[in-house]
Amino acid sequence: MNTGFIGTGSMGSMLIEAFLRSEALLPQEITAFNRTSAKAEQLAQRYPGLRIARSNKEVVLESEIVFLCIKPMEYKKVLDEIRDFTDPSQIVVSITSPVMLGQLEQLLNCQIAKVIPSITNFTLGGALLCMFGERVSAAGRDDLLTLLANIGQPIEIEEKLTRVSSDISSCGPAFLAYFLEHFIRASVEETGINEQQASALAAQMLVGTGKLLTEGGFTPETLRQRVSVPGGITAEGLRLMEKELKDMFNQLFRITHAKYDEDVAKVASLLPRPAE
Ligand SMILES: NC(=O)c1ccc[n+]([C@@H]2O[C@H](COP(=O)([O-])OP(=O)(O)OC[C@H]3O[C@@H](n4cnc5c(N)ncnc54)[C@H](OP(=O)(O)O)[C@@H]3O)[C@@H](O)[C@H]2O)c1
Repeated sequence: MNTGFIGTGSMGSMLIEAFLRSEALLPQEITAFNRTSAKAEQLAQRYPGLRIARSNKEVVLESEIVFLCIKPMEYKKVLDEIRDFTDPSQIVVSITSPVMLGQLEQLLNCQIAKVIPSITNFTLGGALLCMFGERVSAAGRDDLLTLLANIGQPIEIEEKLTRVSSDISSCGPAFLAYFLEHFIRASVEETGINEQQASALAAQMLVGTGKLLTEGGFTPETLRQRVSVPGGITAEGLRLMEKELKDMFNQLFRITHAKYDEDVAKVASLLPRPAE
């Protein structure tokens, strides 16, 4: 299926590479444009056959599905460039949380979806949060879900839950990575264990924990209870975490949602209001 990418930065290139590695798409089926041409050209060199367009308009003219992999403040410019060239048979997919389906439907005449990827899709795992606009046909929905299923697990969510779902699914890898960085650094500082070995142990622990939660029938709570026997060493560590971290998670969601509200307001000042 001819698939276009507007923006080949961190997420655009991640999606392209994941679709190619999973063999969901052939390089010849991909057309991309990036504001700084060198980034897109590097992809074309790495994947012979991948087409670099000369403009965003050209991406739209050559694609059945178009992924908008740009930042919130870049939408107005890109939408102005492509709005006269979309077609009702096409699906335009935004990967940006503060841009609403309704805003895109007001400006473009095509089918609109929102898909929030996660860096975990790079290794063909993790979730892809999916939302569909009112004009998306049953066939369009199936095509998009089938494509996405090659690089992760598409999970349909309500648009009003975009931020919290993205915090867990897309920001979560960075939050866990931060935890691991400090876990590893402290293990080295406190005990002298070699950093490489501590990192390998931590990565394997994370993979195994993920499997227990997805395939092993555990919830986070039952897993914690299973490992932490009364009077044991894990329980001592958990007691400290309970004291130090408890409110931090609530604060984290408040902070991400405050930033999201700011971004939504900025986008709203640039794009039309969604129809009531
Ligand atoms: N990072 C994540 O894990 C994650 C997860 C889910 C969703 N997202 C969302 O994904 C979106 C993109 O994030 P990102 O991390 O990929 O940002 P990024 O690395 O800055 O990529 C954005 C790309 O868009 C290009 N661009 C800007 N204006 C353009 C235009 N007018 N025409 C064509 N290309 C243009 C930029 O080109 P230049 O090279 O000229 O800068 C850049 O390469 C954001 O809205 C973000 O919220 C990110």
